[in-house]
Amino acid sequence: MSSADLDQTAKSILIENDQGGYTVPTKGLYPYQWNWDSVFVALGFATFDQDRAWREIEMLFEGQWRDGMVPHILFRKDDPSYFPGPSVWGTDGGPIPSSGHSQPPVAATVISDLVDSDTSGKALGRAAALFPSLMNWHRWFLAYRDPEAKGAMSVIHPWESGRDNLPDWDDALRAVVVKDIGPYERKDTSHVDPAMRPHKEDYDRYLSIMAACRNVGWDPAEVARTCPFFVADPGVTFIFLRASRDLLTLAEKLGKDAEADEIKGWINRMETGVKSLWHDGLKAHVALDRRSGKHTDGISSMSFLAPYAGIADQETLESLQGHFDRIAEKVRYLMPSYDPEHTSYEPLRYWRGPVWAMVNYMIARGFAEVGDSARAERLRNDTASLVEASGFAEYFSPETAAGAGGGTFSWTAAIWLTWASPTHVEQAA
Ligand code: GLC
Repeated sequence: MSSADLDQTAKSILIENDQGGYTVPTKGLYPYQWNWDSVFVALGFATFDQDRAWREIEMLFEGQWRDGMVPHILFRKDDPSYFPGPSVWGTDGGPIPSSGHSQPPVAATVISDLVDSDTSGKALGRAAALFPSLMNWHRWFLAYRDPEAKGAMSVIHPWESGRDNLPDWDDALRAVVVKDIGPYERKDTSHVDPAMRPHKEDYDRYLSIMAACRNVGWDPAEVARTCPFFVADPGVTFIFLRASRDLLTLAEKLGKDAEADEIKGWINRMETGVKSLWHDGLKAHVALDRRSGKHTDGISSMSFLAPYAGIADQETLESLQGHFDRIAEKVRYLMPSYDPEHTSYEPLRYWRGPVWAMVNYMIARGFAEVGDSARAERLRNDTASLVEASGFAEYFSPETAAGAGGGTFSWTAAIWLTWASPTHVEQAA
């Protein structure tokens, strides 16, 4: 298929997955509105319909909880083909039935991009309307995912990281006692090959964490204090730090001086705190289990987000470039979600090896911003080759380019349109 045909297919995927203002990640496997999927999808819509791009994010924020949290899933209508649905979550924090935790906060960054690329003259007004909600969401992260002000964001569930079965969660998950879950029937494995999905032992624990949070009524302070899973994640930390910088730019554009000062304080806290995720032996930022105090021992694709977060001192940058080149010798397509030289690496199992387009986009953006255009271009070319080989799959094998998981996937289509498509590169040149 030519790039122009792929552009057309990508647009059709977004239009097909549109439910009237919000977009499902893919039909069947994920039938609701997911938080960071929607935000990346907005970038795709913005290439041909800016109004629709804003609508996607505005509808996501309609589900914001009273405490400021923006949930990872909004269950706008009931769909029995998905598990775990609203009754299992048992939440009551916001206006729309939802899951009980959040997802990586990419929204402020994308909103700032939408303002920069606006041609309608309406973007700043729409950003101003969302600004208080963004502030509250970021404050929520600081209060309840970094309650001791250590400057690194934790996740209370692997799903909150957006990287469900990443090897980084294995030890912390194994420590979760399986209880209060009753019999249940998964639906994901009837949509896609079980060999590409998490194991049952993982699922039992995913549900046990939810049960523990349900037992404290999803009260955010209690969840932070008692949740059996509480792991500082370099992915969420870097994305939050980057989003806070973009929120600061927005605050300055909007003349919000008090908020701008507040955000500067967050940035200082995170810039200092992120150092606690640095693994001296590996020379990269890794996860840190707050309950056991232990670092994990593997490099994940989001370790490469340091430059994206503005952490680009010489030691960090040079060691990341070294890891990048080492990994490039091991697999054909970058960036595998986990280090291919780690024993936990599996090229087709979800977040244990496969390449994800939106992660490549963020890594490349950071590398380009610090002047490493060669590695940024490598990521773009690899992403384009994966889509050209296997279409708009959920994720791809870093070894063979095989597409896996769900098909006709919204964020893969969106990332193609906004960044990976050669047509887009020509227009931008
Ligand atoms: C999976 C992914 C998560 C994504 C969701 C919907 O759970 O791990 O990041 O948001 O699917 O696509």
